[in-house]
This record gives sequence, C-alpha cells and structure tokens, in this order.
Amino acid sequence: MFLTDDEKRMRDGAEGDAVAAAMDLLLRYGYALDAERLCAIRNVAGTMTQPSPVKARLVAEGGWDKAFAVINLDSDLDLTIPPMRVPTCQLQHGFGPDSVDIVPYPRANVDLQSDAEAFYGRHGVAILATCTPYQVGNLPVRGEHCAWMESSAVIYANSVLGARTNCEGVASTGAASLTGRIPCWGNHLEENRFGTHQISVSGVHVESFQDWGMLGYFAGSVAGEDRPVIAGDIARPDLTELKHFGAAAATSGGVELYHIPGITPEAPSRQAAFAPGTAVPEAVVYGPAERAAVYQTLNEIGSSADVDFVLLGCPHASLEQIRQTAFLLEGKRLSSGTELWIMAPRALKVVADRSGYTAVIERAGGRVLADSCPAMSRAAPAGTRVFATDSAKQAHYLPAILGIEAWFGTLEECVAAAVTGRWSGGLR
Ligand code: F3S
Repeated sequence: MFLTDDEKRMRDGAEGDAVAAAMDLLLRYGYALDAERLCAIRNVAGTMTQPSPVKARLVAEGGWDKAFAVINLDSDLDLTIPPMRVPTCQLQHGFGPDSVDIVPYPRANVDLQSDAEAFYGRHGVAILATCTPYQVGNLPVRGEHCAWMESSAVIYANSVLGARTNCEGVASTGAASLTGRIPCWGNHLEENRFGTHQISVSGVHVESFQDWGMLGYFAGSVAGEDRPVIAGDIARPDLTELKHFGAAAATSGGVELYHIPGITPEAPSRQAAFAPGTAVPEAVVYGPAERAAVYQTLNEIGSSADVDFVLLGCPHASLEQIRQTAFLLEGKRLSSGTELWIMAPRALKVVADRSGYTAVIERAGGRVLADSCPAMSRAAPAGTRVFATDSAKQAHYLPAILGIEAWFGTLEECVAAAVTGRWSGGLR
C-alpha cells in the first residue's frame, strides 16, 4: 500500500505508541481490502461511548485508555490515548441520566456512559449523541472523505450530501480519529459510486413519510448491498423523507449509496447515475402490488390491536417531526395503558423544549427522549407486548430484539393508537 511520508512517520511511532497502533490497525484493514492507499479525512463519527459488559471490565482493569486500546485499536499494549487528530463526533449510545425514571435501563450503564462522555470529551470528541449527526451540525461537503458508522447516517452522507464514506466500525473509527486516515476503497472511489439497479415507481404516489419508508424498504430488498437508482412518479422528497428512505434501504438490504435523478447530488440525470458507456439496467417496477407487499411484510408481526407503546423518531426525529407530533397531541391524553416516546437528537430536544413542543407532548403523557432508542438500548416500557411505529427500521428490528409485536403506519395512525390504545391503521 502506498504511504505518504506523514503516514510512515505515524506508523513508525513519531507521534506516539497509540497513533502507531492506530496506523497498524488501518494498515491491516487496508491490506485485507486490497486498498492501494489511505484517504486523508477530517470527519469521523463513531459510537465510542456505548456501554457494554466488555467495556465495563476493561475500564475496571485499566481505565478508559485501556478500553480504547483494546476496543478501538485492537491493541493489548499499555497505551496513553492522545487527543483526537481530526474532528470526531459521537453518535447514538445508551440512555442518559435524564431517562433514569422513565426508561428501564441499568443505572450501571448510565454511569459508565457518563464516565465515557467525560473521557472522550476531554480527548476532543463532540458528544452529539444521535444517529443523525447531519441534523445537528455535522454536514460534510460533497466529495469529502469521511469515516462514519451507523448505516442510516452513512447512506445519508453518501447519497444526500455526496460525501464519501464506507460503513465503518468501532475499531476503524477509533483508529481514524487518531490518524485522520481511513483505507481508500469502496465508496471512496469514483468507480464504485454509480448505480447498479434501476427502480421505477409507477402507479403509486410516493408522497408521505410512510411512503418513503416503504419505498426505501423495497429498494433495499432489490439492491441488497448495491446502489439503487430511483426514478418515476415521485414527489420531491424533503430531508426528513430522505432520512427515512435511506434508513429503510439500509435495513432490508445493506445499501450505503443511492441516487434519485434530479434530486441527489451525483445524479443530475438518470443517465448520469450510471457509469459512462454502460447500459441502464432494466427497471424493477415499484407499483401497487409491490407497495402492498412491503406494507404486509412490515405489519406481519402485528396481531393484537391493543397497543401499549408507540415509538417515533427512528432515525432520530427532525424538529418538524417533533412539531407535528405535538400538533397531533395538542389537548389530548394518551390512553392509560399506552406510552409514547419520540427519540430526538439532544440538540434538537433543546429547541423543542424552547419551542413548547415538548411541553405539549408531555401534557398528553408522552415523552421526548434523547441519546438512544429502544433498539440501541434494548429497552422499552415495562410490560410492552405490542408497539406501533412510523419507522420501517424499528418495525423491522424491534420485534426480534425485544420479542414484541409491531404495527407500522403513518404518524397520524401512531398518535391515534397512543390516544386510543388501539391500532386502526391500514394501507391507503
Ligand atoms: Fe437511530 Fe435507533 Fe433508529 S440508533 S436509526 S433511532 S434504530
């Protein structure tokens, strides 16, 4: 692999043992992938502070330096971790101290995480605590090489912003934060960013948040780990709908990059979404039958209409989603046996608090929660058997994680279920 002089210096220990260990990890990673060089980056997003039993044991043995060495650098050396070399942010993790009396989540995890935040903050990590860093100020520019984790954030960065990142892991983001480097392969390379599948929307209106989630779920099932191009009868989506679309495509498949001609930055036209000189692949149609099939899949675990939990904000809610939820709950009360949580980036929760949205939701009996989500923390209201959500991603994962039933529908249907305690949604 080609290395610059600066990279050789880091590899050889000129910037200390921890940076040398980080370079060692990146080189092993790069060789395994046949990367020819490293990309210089200055934007890392990872989940370093997420509590786990292994992390708790390592911290007890040797403090946070030890935990970082083993988990983020794959090293057994006795290292002192220096400040991050490039701007690095923290993504979602477990629930925090302000959720202690609301969410059944172990106090030991909350304390470990608070400790982790202090350590990583001191080392220069911005504790954004959200799976949507792009909603709260981390907006890489088009063409910028990054090292991000979290599938829903990676697909957004690549597709909506035109930045370049693979779906990284805890170790590679840790090493990237200390070196400002990541192996240059996959989505970093121009030739790997063209469309591979064409999906043609026909005979259905893709307009709502729910519609975009179902289309994303379909696109992921068609494209798998490749790159779908979406064309046809679609209204121009807003950023919240693209957030929802991408999360769903990364759930049913492993999509990290898609194009919508005329909307996403690397596809000014349908032809430009595909590699020059190649034929546009035959279109796979997304019509009424396909839409109904996706809806059926996302609702196949639901059998009881008695809903005891409504979960909104996956990926973490935009301010507009919080505002709409407050609008729908104004002057209402949740059913006595039903809870409603909306997950939000902490920075946006502050805005929601100041705007009065949180107060309206709480007066109705709901909660605006930050930092995490039930899937990430494996925590839902005690006794939950049936939940409802407007997120295709949560409808897909949470039944398997918590062993509960799921209903998937519109925001309006979910809020109605919270108020009545009954599911009455259906495909329209
Ligand atoms: Fe975010 Fe949790 Fe969904 S981390 S993308 S709200 S599964």
